[in-house]
Amino acid sequence: MGLFGKHELLVLVMSTMCLMKCSLEYDPKDNYLVDCGSPANRTTVGDRVFVSDSSHSFLSNPEQESINATNSEPSSSIYGSLLYRTARILNRTSNFTFSINQHGRHFVRLYFFPFVPDHQTYNLSSSKFSVSAHGFTLLKDFQPGVTPSVKEYSINITSDELVLTFTPSANSFAFVNALEVVSHPDELIPVSAQPVEGSTNHHGLIAQALETVARINMGNQSVSPDNDTLWRAWNSDGPFVKRNNFVRFVTNLSAVNYTENGPSVDIAPLSVYGTATKLDNEQNPSARLNNTWSFNVDPGFSYFVRFHFCDIFQLPPSDLWLNIYLNSMSVKKDFNIGLETSNVYGAPYFLDAVTRVSRDGMINVSIGTSNVYNALPESFLNGLEIMKISNSKGNLDGSLTSLSKKKVWVIAASVAGALFIIGVLGCLIFILCRRNKRKSKAGHAKQEYLSPDESTIFSKSKVGYRFPLIAIQEATDRFSESLVIGIGGFGKVYKGTLFDGTVVAVKRGAPQSNQGLAEFRTEIEMLSQFRHRHLVSLIGYCDERNEMIIIYEYMENGTLKNHLYGSDLPKLNWRQRLEICIGSAKGLHYLHTSSAKAIIHRDVKSANILLDENFMAKVADFGLSKNGPEFDQSHVSTAVKGSFGYLDPEYMTRQQLTEKSDVYSFGVVMFEILCGRPVIDPSRPRGMVSLVEWVKELQKQGELEKIIDPYLVGKMKMESLKKFVDIADKCLADEGIDRPAIGDVLWNLEYALQLEGVEIKTGQTVVNDSAKYNVENGVSSTVFTEGSMGDLDGVSMSRVFSEMVKGDKQEMR
Ligand SMILES: *[C@@H]1O[C@H](CO)[C@@H](O)[C@H](O)[C@H]1NC(C)=O
Ligand SMILES: *[C@@H]1O[C@H](CO)[C@@H](O)[C@H](O)[C@H]1NC(C)=O
Ligand SMILES: *[C@@H]1O[C@H](CO)[C@@H](O)[C@H](O)[C@H]1NC(C)=O
Ligand SMILES: *[C@@H]1O[C@H](CO)[C@@H](O)[C@H](O)[C@H]1NC(C)=O
Ligand SMILES: *[C@@H]1O[C@H](CO)[C@@H](O)[C@H](O)[C@H]1NC(C)=O
Ligand SMILES: *[C@@H]1O[C@H](CO)[C@@H](O)[C@H](O)[C@H]1NC(C)=O
Ligand SMILES: *[C@@H]1O[C@H](CO)[C@@H](O)[C@H](O)[C@H]1NC(C)=O
Ligand SMILES: *[C@@H]1O[C@H](CO)[C@@H](O)[C@H](O)[C@H]1NC(C)=O
Ligand SMILES: *[C@@H]1O[C@H](CO)[C@@H](O)[C@H](O)[C@H]1NC(C)=O
Ligand SMILES: *[C@@H]1O[C@H](CO)[C@@H](O)[C@H](O)[C@H]1NC(C)=O
Ligand SMILES: *[C@@H]1O[C@H](CO)[C@@H](O)[C@H](O)[C@H]1NC(C)=O
Ligand SMILES: *[C@@H]1O[C@H](CO)[C@@H](O)[C@H](O)[C@H]1NC(C)=O
Repeated sequence: MGLFGKHELLVLVMSTMCLMKCSLEYDPKDNYLVDCGSPANRTTVGDRVFVSDSSHSFLSNPEQESINATNSEPSSSIYGSLLYRTARILNRTSNFTFSINQHGRHFVRLYFFPFVPDHQTYNLSSSKFSVSAHGFTLLKDFQPGVTPSVKEYSINITSDELVLTFTPSANSFAFVNALEVVSHPDELIPVSAQPVEGSTNHHGLIAQALETVARINMGNQSVSPDNDTLWRAWNSDGPFVKRNNFVRFVTNLSAVNYTENGPSVDIAPLSVYGTATKLDNEQNPSARLNNTWSFNVDPGFSYFVRFHFCDIFQLPPSDLWLNIYLNSMSVKKDFNIGLETSNVYGAPYFLDAVTRVSRDGMINVSIGTSNVYNALPESFLNGLEIMKISNSKGNLDGSLTSLSKKKVWVIAASVAGALFIIGVLGCLIFILCRRNKRKSKAGHAKQEYLSPDESTIFSKSKVGYRFPLIAIQEATDRFSESLVIGIGGFGKVYKGTLFDGTVVAVKRGAPQSNQGLAEFRTEIEMLSQFRHRHLVSLIGYCDERNEMIIIYEYMENGTLKNHLYGSDLPKLNWRQRLEICIGSAKGLHYLHTSSAKAIIHRDVKSANILLDENFMAKVADFGLSKNGPEFDQSHVSTAVKGSFGYLDPEYMTRQQLTEKSDVYSFGVVMFEILCGRPVIDPSRPRGMVSLVEWVKELQKQGELEKIIDPYLVGKMKMESLKKFVDIADKCLADEGIDRPAIGDVLWNLEYALQLEGVEIKTGQTVVNDSAKYNVENGVSSTVFTEGSMGDLDGVSMSRVFSEMVKGDKQEMR
């Protein structure tokens, strides 16, 4: 015993053993292994013991029927074949409850094999059910296939109990053959991972559940759960290799050297890192080819992908330089494993990425040779894991997303269709005119806004909504044509879904866009300064790689214009139209009055008024907005901008820009709303082409009723109509000075709605056509009814009040 005492030696031996044991085998704090429906208390699979669910109280209602025995026993080559001999049938919603010793990530594994049981009361093939756990839907209306299968999930459990709920679908039942709830090292799943194509924006995984879609060992060899410290099954890559590949399978287990700084055996076992699939370049030694594997996955989800590498071929330094792709998008360029592993021969390494799969439900993994000068024409990969990431609704099952995808497509198609019809029938002239106008002014505009020292769009980060291009590409399925919801002079507008599930509208300036940089900047500056219920909200923008992309809140019902004519959308009733006028007037009122410098929108038109799912109006498109005359001493602006048909004649002739120019355009919109026809309609007889001229003519003749949208005739109160026409007409006064302020317009519109009979919150309908309409009444029941104070953010009460009093006076004048 020379150096050591007896005890010391014992301790030393024990701790050495523990060290060895600990480094070789992970000891899960939670380790529930359940063989469902088994009459025996214990079922042994390899070195693991599964207990019967009848002898433990996992199940909420164990009186449920349990059945055992199969007709056709699954082949014993399948891992845990004994587990598939019995099943637990659940004919109503049932919970399996497990108490959790240690919070953190756990594997949940569900074993399914739909056999026909001996006594044939239930045919497991006709089962259909959903499974949820910890707030995640793991399976939705699931129908197991015909062969034994294991569904594996990784869930970060943050409570002291895990409840697995099985819910049979209508007229069906659920079953399960076996269950596992087993802790796994938290390090296995990172807290975040980098999306493909080099974006620095990470995809957070802390709160997400993951489902294993593919866990693959390269080298055409599978690895049994018995040979994995975390009992994971690794399938052979053989079936996934693309047929036209030149591949060679390599095995050298003894070359693998797990190092202290590298991944542990828990990340992937020896039998994964010790085998690889290489490019077979014997036939064509200098060819730089890709090796590609293809996997079918559910579209509409993001996927976490882990690549396992281990150079078991050659002594370092490695001259294997790889380019790594997911669906043709770059994960890493010029990857050299030697650089990553300090040139330790046989040291494992892994790489993570997140990608979104949108349309074709496929993940193509390609490993190719990079173009660095000394790269051998080689490529290799040792292992691959693909895990589906739960979506923003906590869903991991594809059936729901494919449904909503279809719906989205239908909406997008119909909106695009409607836009197309309008474009062709109504607005050809209008668009052309606008384009020409913009083209000729683009040069001016740029000089106005860009000083030479500004290298980026925004020199100081005035706005904090900058999005990486990759995030937008993913949100829009890489600007998929099927997601286009609008096309204009500026470019296309796409419907997109951000990583967190937010639905957005993405406006992408065409590279040669007529709107140009100045308008892009103005729009972002305006929108980030002003937030109001009736102004469309800015979510972000992107100026990467010369892109001009603006992301807005998505407005379910599109443009007001679409609902007035040229589409087959349901017609709006009078009250809806009044409310839309009021909403947009509030938006403009806010622009004109909320800050010291009035903001002039300059492009008020029905195509720039958007409607949300409740038909609430929001003013959009601030690309032409400008500070008002207080700061533009001359009142003369160099470039007349706006939209043909809506342009203030005074502004057109004298280039004098004031808030009243917006009021004029708003008056045009009001008549557009009343008449349900385009502002310029070349298909009409002379005298009727221009809405404004026509209205003025008929008014002279006292036949204004002829202009009303036929759909509205007889469905509106005369007093309300009169009030509306009266104020709209005032907006069209030739001289700005004769036009009311937008606040007065707003007040009169509220009055018109009042006259129509307004629905107050309590549900009562107040018809107030004869009653005295005092200001107090107006305040309490109209202006502030829908949004109360929030509605006029930042606008001082007294200001609105005086505005209304002013309006009242003007009314009586
Ligand atoms: C199963 O376990 C229960 C107690 O948990 C025991 O009473 C019973 O005898 C066991 N049955 C077998 C077959 O071991
Ligand atoms: C569910 O199973 C229980 C236990 O076998 C049985 O009593 C009950 O009738 C079944 N219910 C249905 C709806 O099949
Ligand atoms: C099936 O269960 C019955 C009793 O429920 C038992 O007698 C029989 O041995 C079981 N069969 C198998 C294959 O486990
Ligand atoms: C299952 O658990 C959930 C909570 O996780 C509970 O709301 C539900 O009532 C339980 N159902 C049954 C049948 O016990
Ligand atoms: C079980 O159900 C499946 C599908 O519902 C059917 O194809 C099969 O014939 C059924 N088997 C028996 C024995 O009824
Ligand atoms: C699990 O969730 C908790 C609480 O959100 C978090 O602190 C922890 O980092 C998460 N663990 C992992 C491995 O994501
Ligand atoms: C992969 O291995 C399987 C047997 O495990 C074999 O049938 C198949 O031909 C192999 N694939 C290739 C490409 O060698
Ligand atoms: C586990 O791996 C060893 C070699 O590392 C091999 O001899 C053994 O057959 C494997 N066992 C299983 C069950 O795959
Ligand atoms: C496997 O790797 C060892 C180094 O650990 C090396 O000596 C041996 O030659 C390699 N075998 C083959 C077939 O490459
Ligand atoms: C494994 O790598 C380490 C360096 O990290 C080295 O010291 C050790 O000798 C290597 N082991 C084998 C078996 O090559
Ligand atoms: C993946 O590869 C398949 C077959 O080569 C191809 O049809 C498909 O378009 C590819 N998918 C993607 C997203 O690249
Ligand atoms: C490898 O695949 C990537 C992505 O699909 C592609 O860009 C590249 O051209 C391919 N290389 C070769 C040599 O085919």
